[in-house]
Amino acid sequence: MPSMSDDHTHVQEFFTARAADWDARFPDDGPAYAAAVADLALREGDRVLDAGCGTGRALPPLRAAVGPSGVVVGADLTPAMLEAAVRAGRDRDGRLLLADVAALPLRSESLDAVFAAGLIAHLPDPARNLRELARVVRPGGTLALFHPIGRAALAARQGRQITPDDLRAEPNLRPLLAGSGWRMTSYADEDSRFLALAVRAD
Ligand SMILES: C[S@@+](CC[C@H](N)C(=O)[O-])C[C@H]1O[C@@H](n2cnc3c(N)ncnc32)[C@H](O)[C@@H]1O
Repeated sequence: MPSMSDDHTHVQEFFTARAADWDARFPDDGPAYAAAVADLALREGDRVLDAGCGTGRALPPLRAAVGPSGVVVGADLTPAMLEAAVRAGRDRDGRLLLADVAALPLRSESLDAVFAAGLIAHLPDPARNLRELARVVRPGGTLALFHPIGRAALAARQGRQITPDDLRAEPNLRPLLAGSGWRMTSYADEDSRFLALAVRAD
């Protein structure tokens, strides 16, 4: 069983190697992020966390959704990804935190929503880590688990097959979320995107 620090080191090495050209590798994803943020149905003044924000690609649409009176926080474990976010000027749209989403430096029930793109496959203990995301969201608040490519298309791109134990398969994700303080309200796994929405249970 790897320790938490082994998990951190692995994630940080993986994404440090990819940080500098992360945005250039996926130049056409902007509209998909904007559409996913729209589906989160944020309101003016809301407080939202981008969990595993990376280079902050979701921060501009999140800021646009909550407006100047809202709060946008981007948290990521990999300094190089956050540095790339700053170089891209994304720190203008949200406060960047070098933090592990497994132990967030945020008060309980202090947020209205969490957006997480490409994150859950990298979490060492998804049930526990999703519960930590639930802790910081008020009851009735929302969660979006997003990827700008569907599971089958991603597997094909990576030269692998989807297996039934895939965490993001609907029969696995629904109970995983339910056991972590979330009720899944919609699920879409299309070639062009993966998006699961959930509401924080009371
Ligand atoms: C696939 S990238 C996605 C980045 C960004 N959300 C996007 O859509 O472009 C996953 C990101 O999650 C971060 N990450 C992985 N595990 C994390 C954790 N436990 N806490 C915070 N960030 C984490 C990585 O450092 C990386 O930047």
